[in-house]
Amino acid sequence: MDSAHNSRQEPEAPPALRRRTLMAGSVGAALAASLLPGIASSPARAAEAAARRFDPHDWDSVRAQFNLSNRYLHFSTFLLASHPAPVRAAINDLRDQLDADPPTMAEGFGDEDRSTRVRAVIARHLGGRPEEVALTDSTTMAIALLYGGLKLRPGQEILTSAQDFYVTTMALRLRNERDGTPVRTISLYDDPARVSADEIVGRIVRAIGPRTRVLALTWVNSNYGVKLPARQIADALAEINARRDEADKVLFCLDGVHGFGVEDVKISDLGCDFFASSVHKWLFGPRGTGFLWGRGDNLGLVRVTIPSFTRAGYYAWVDEHPPVGELGAIASPGGFHSFEHRWAVPSAFDFHNAIGASRIHHRTVSQASRLKAGLRELRGVRVVTPQTSALSAGIVSCLIDGIDPETAAQRLRADFGIIATATPYKDSHLRFGPSITTTPQQVEQVIKAVARLR
Ligand SMILES: Cc1ncc(COP(=O)(O)O)c(C=O)c1O
Repeated sequence: MDSAHNSRQEPEAPPALRRRTLMAGSVGAALAASLLPGIASSPARAAEAAARRFDPHDWDSVRAQFNLSNRYLHFSTFLLASHPAPVRAAINDLRDQLDADPPTMAEGFGDEDRSTRVRAVIARHLGGRPEEVALTDSTTMAIALLYGGLKLRPGQEILTSAQDFYVTTMALRLRNERDGTPVRTISLYDDPARVSADEIVGRIVRAIGPRTRVLALTWVNSNYGVKLPARQIADALAEINARRDEADKVLFCLDGVHGFGVEDVKISDLGCDFFASSVHKWLFGPRGTGFLWGRGDNLGLVRVTIPSFTRAGYYAWVDEHPPVGELGAIASPGGFHSFEHRWAVPSAFDFHNAIGASRIHHRTVSQASRLKAGLRELRGVRVVTPQTSALSAGIVSCLIDGIDPETAAQRLRADFGIIATATPYKDSHLRFGPSITTTPQQVEQVIKAVARLR
């Protein structure tokens, strides 16, 4: 019996997790209570105490910050993050404050002032400016605001890809249904496993026509794991745009969610005009948080859909003029939110930065590379994600002869305690997402388990 099977039969917490369990018990709670006089000991305080023991240079300690169940190997980071201890502590602290006095925390422009800090933290990570960042609850919300709101002249078209996810494809279809904006779809590649940057860029360049105003793509595809060569695409667009008037330039828009938190790059490295992501996947931020970034000189290109609870939004109403300002000031959808999550976003970036963006990238990508190489050696397994990290990130997708992806995912969970998923696409694949919550040893367990599926 292999070790993957053993670990399911006899679930045993890694040493670091056992340490965390201890901390969450009476010692940790008592310590937390003594550090925070006047506040009763609680799981939140214990989490805070565990966070204090966080050693960002020790991967066991990093993993110990998560309350992920020891029964499973968690290869599904691409779905929804588990909150590490510092994020849990920040959320709980803010929730306590909100519960104690909601109006004082949120009244007037209290939200805007606190959210400005959140926007600044996201902007710093991207290498942009806070004014360029609108806060949303998810990538989906950001994508919908972008494609629903982009101002286009009659006849100007949006170019997208057949490989794109439901969120982009559907947002564009809804736009088309609403105002007839033409949407054209091309295939970026035939075989994801053998794709090259030249093939992708060549197909895009050949498809761009005189009326193409928007290029709507996804940075890291969540079905095949292909990472688009964003910089090369942006460079090719720059050549095309050099011959165009400002109002006809092709705007490069990316759903960046599966690169954000994995790739150690700045927004200027990507060269896009708009970038949408959530913080609640690979960055392990509070669930229900995301953003839309738009380059400053694209000011005014996105029509506001949802009134923003900001000064700029409010005074546009009072003074009876359209909302003016950059995305950050006018495009963050208003209404009160789950503020304990939104305002806790900086704690996720602190956690990420303490470990180091470059170390996280290498930890994630090295596991993904080993997983792809190991799966490739198995008979009857076809890995569709490119082996090179130039064209992939953390997602690893494959097909297994004779077993549909849904059945494979169910058996991995039931028989081996491995959480992977079947991708929610028409041509579904079995998908894994190694991350800072998984280990190289667990990657070997996954390879052995997949070998035993057939
Ligand atoms: C490419 C892509 N974009 C967007 C989403 C949705 O993300 P969010 O929860 O941030 O809206 C997903 C998957 O959940 C996805 O795979």
